[in-house]
Amino acid sequence: MSTPRSVVVVEPDPYLAVSVEALLGGVHPPPELLAVADLDELEDWCPPTGVVVAGPSCATKQAIAQLAAFRDRYPAVRIVLAFDRRPGAAMRDVVAVGADALVDSTDAEELRQAILRSIDLADALATALDEALENAEAPLGQVLTVCSATGGCGKTFYATNLAVALARITGRKVALLDLDLQFGEVMTALRLRPQHTMTDVAAIEDEAELGTYLPEMLTAHESGVWVLPAPLDPAEADRVGPEDIGRVIGALQSHFDYVVVDNPTGLGEGTLAALDRSTHLFILAALDLSSVRNLRLFLQTLERLRIPQDDLSLILNKDQTGVGIDAQDIERLFPRGFRSKIPYSRQVPRSMNSGAPLFSSEPHTAVCSSIVEGLLDLLPHDTQTVARELTAVTSEPWYRRMFARPAEA
Ligand SMILES: Nc1ncnc2c1ncn2[C@@H]1O[C@H](COP(=O)(O)OP(=O)(O)OP(=O)(O)O)[C@@H](O)[C@H]1O
Ligand SMILES: [Mg+2]
Repeated sequence: MSTPRSVVVVEPDPYLAVSVEALLGGVHPPPELLAVADLDELEDWCPPTGVVVAGPSCATKQAIAQLAAFRDRYPAVRIVLAFDRRPGAAMRDVVAVGADALVDSTDAEELRQAILRSIDLADALATALDEALENAEAPLGQVLTVCSATGGCGKTFYATNLAVALARITGRKVALLDLDLQFGEVMTALRLRPQHTMTDVAAIEDEAELGTYLPEMLTAHESGVWVLPAPLDPAEADRVGPEDIGRVIGALQSHFDYVVVDNPTGLGEGTLAALDRSTHLFILAALDLSSVRNLRLFLQTLERLRIPQDDLSLILNKDQTGVGIDAQDIERLFPRGFRSKIPYSRQVPRSMNSGAPLFSSEPHTAVCSSIVEGLLDLLPHDTQTVARELTAVTSEPWYRRMFARPAEA
């Protein structure tokens, strides 16, 4: 607990402070003991929590009113009224002070018990305040959105492997959301059998309820990634509106450090809702002419939508030679460059067809290391070495190399 325990005795005669000090002698950890002569002096002392022991001099009508006003200003402060006579104020005014106890100041045991109970309450309150402060300060998770101008570029492959890579490298909490609401393939790519999909989650309208129930509506993947898949029936896609998407991503952000979002092709209203929440946008293109042409239009649209250019990266996927166009040609057209150039490899469809992300089954491959190389500056500093080691491409045994097919990356 960060807030110190303190007990302030309010009484001009020091006898009360002395006896409180003796009464609390064995308490561990010992509270800080302060003494002030009257309530005016108490006003100079205003910690967020602690215990005030108001002595017999505070039993007057005026002092009771002053204590009630003090309590209104500092509701977290516990108050013990330690009087040796009936207070000179109406009972309802005494109650308005909101004291934890009204005790006989001459009864040592009664006074001790009352102060100890108030210290416990002050401690509990201080801990709750610390926790609330911590939660309030906890940053929302990063939203990493994967999209493309052309279909089949590898969005789902990249999004699933990005999520698994983040979970393995950082050890932090990662969620994967499939926003390809009609034909989402995340579930298949990870071979999951979900109990709930985006339709069920989006149907929860109350924000507090959504925050509470969301974690148990996700499906766990063995990599540690928590998945919210697209609806099982494409007809259900209509039931999820852009505002639902914003709400769900917001709720995921408060539970997870990273929220990876796979999208359908293009810039539909669902993807735009995800962009509104995105920390970083990965735009995929494959090595073919239509992909390149549409990428240019896509980027122009994002510029018109005023999406911050620093928050987006281009990823060239299925990079290979001998297809009449190569990575250098494309780089000339897009001077901002590509964050990753992921080679074409049959390992990718093989991994997707078997439902095991390449990052889980074969991380030491050129495909995985190119994904990770491109991510390094977005990863926490202390994880960069782990990231490199995890994907360092191992040299294959001589017999594998000898019989390897030339097209394999
Ligand atoms: N680097 C790669 N090398 C070889 N094949 C790849 C690579 N990346 C993706 N693929 C294959 O391309 C196909 C399309 O990939 P994926 O489903 O990830 O694309 P998508 O952009 O999500 O498609 P859609 O627009 O339909 O959602 C898949 O069969 C996948 O295995
Ligand atoms: Mg897809």
